[in-house]
Amino acid sequence: MSAPLEIQENTILVILGASGDLAKKKLFPALFGLERRCLLPTDFKIVGFAPDEMTHDNFLSIIRSPINLESPRFAEQLEQFCQRCSYVSGHEGGEKSFRALRRRLEQLGTGKKEQNRLFYMALPPSIFTGMQEGLRKHCYSERGASRIIIEKPFGHDLESSRELQRALDPNWREDEIFRVDHYLGKEVVNNLLVLRFGNEIFGAIWNARHIDNIEISITESGGAEGRGSYFNGVGAIRDVMQNHLTQILALLTMERPRSFSAEDLCAEKARVLDWMLPIEYVNTIIGQYEKSEDGEKPAFKDEEDVPNDSRCATFCAAVGHIENERWAGIPFLLKAGKALNESLTEIKIHFKPSTNAAIFTTDPLASNTMTIRVQPSEGVFLSINTFVPSLTTQKTSAMDLDLTYHGREIPEAYEVLLLDALKGDKARSVRGDELDASWKIWTPLLHFLDDENAEVRPREYAYGSNGPEGLGEFIASYQNRKS
Ligand code: NDP
Ligand code: BG6
Repeated sequence: MSAPLEIQENTILVILGASGDLAKKKLFPALFGLERRCLLPTDFKIVGFAPDEMTHDNFLSIIRSPINLESPRFAEQLEQFCQRCSYVSGHEGGEKSFRALRRRLEQLGTGKKEQNRLFYMALPPSIFTGMQEGLRKHCYSERGASRIIIEKPFGHDLESSRELQRALDPNWREDEIFRVDHYLGKEVVNNLLVLRFGNEIFGAIWNARHIDNIEISITESGGAEGRGSYFNGVGAIRDVMQNHLTQILALLTMERPRSFSAEDLCAEKARVLDWMLPIEYVNTIIGQYEKSEDGEKPAFKDEEDVPNDSRCATFCAAVGHIENERWAGIPFLLKAGKALNESLTEIKIHFKPSTNAAIFTTDPLASNTMTIRVQPSEGVFLSINTFVPSLTTQKTSAMDLDLTYHGREIPEAYEVLLLDALKGDKARSVRGDELDASWKIWTPLLHFLDDENAEVRPREYAYGSNGPEGLGEFIASYQNRKS
């Protein structure tokens, strides 16, 4: 694969789905973040594309509203940013729409020898295939680079992911495709590489000899409000576990890459995921949220377009195993859910208990735990055993070594990823073989849950609780096993 080049001048970013939630809440604010940091090329232009027949002013108000709220003091830069932006109304499936988009791209490139085009697919997955075909046919840049940026979900199982890839193959070279997983743009997720491979003290103990079990969780206090129809078709496993959570797992467990190039990083992530066994239903707890205990918050089934007999998993806890030499025998506890008691993305590495406990006290020593908090309040904490200061007793207690990110400016994930696409840096883009490996882990479980005849019912949990009944025992059974 040839490495894509950094794009500087004569570049247009087209946001397909410019009136949607992702564009409004994440993409435009992230692009404005890059504007503020003076990281956009001077003549960079942004074209919004969506079915809505909106005026230029209406489009600008979509861009301005989230930014205005957050940063009124950047008014001048916001005006400069808006001057980069224009809108074309159109939809997938209409030749006329693609021709209108092409005309706009050509107008914006008048007088220039070459033009680079980036296409960001902030669209419902059902129209990815048709949209990329239309873009290739009508809007591909013949003189300059073209790149397509694809949002998750990339397929809904192994076969459909391969199908989507087969649809892309004749139209886009691999170095032109950027598959976005926005968790790879998060600072702490990025930091896993330097934490593991830049610190000898951690590198030496990062294996099943010293680690007892690892937990990775993405919990959210919000439910699926306003996204019932989307979420009912997807569920927690496809929404965050097959992608965000599995990517974190890969970075945490892969071998050291030969270099930090995209090629070497993706190869190592794919390799470790290949060692992971498919998740089995017996090693899971599947849940769906009901109303909150005070009745104030709705049940998942109360959402519009969610049927009363929905079996959608809004919660899943699963245990997986990686059968390579480094990790064989240790459980990975993976957990994700909506409408829980807190929003927290965290990795917990539980080390094996010390064999020296008896020389200190008759109480058992706590096992060391390293907590890597992705969000909120980013940081790394290491619990270590110390003596409790005292003149009369010799007791131990666990204290935290605390590496919080206090006061450090942390870039937004989408700023990082958009800049990558401009730079042509694919180290944080998910490669096809990683996707394949990750779908192999989750597809058998997903097919089992989707099977109408299986009659598997998710366990209920109250909105705002910490998950379905039995979760504590389930986790404890993996953590307290004899290793
Ligand atoms: P929305 O439904 O909010 O937005 C979809 C956008 O696509 C709208 O602008 C919509 O226009 C447009 N659209 C729909 N049909 C067509 C069509 N036939 N031709 C052209 N445009 C069309 O979805 P989201 O913004 O939430 O999500 C977009 C993608 O990003 C999805 O793949 C999602 O999984 C992913 N994603 C979203 C995140 C988020 O925070 N929202 C986070 C991570 C990933 P109209 O409204 O007029 O129908
Ligand atoms: C998205 C999911 O990919 O990630 C959402 O579709 C989820 O359901 C979101 O809420 C979580 O992202 P973040 O950055 O808010 O943790």
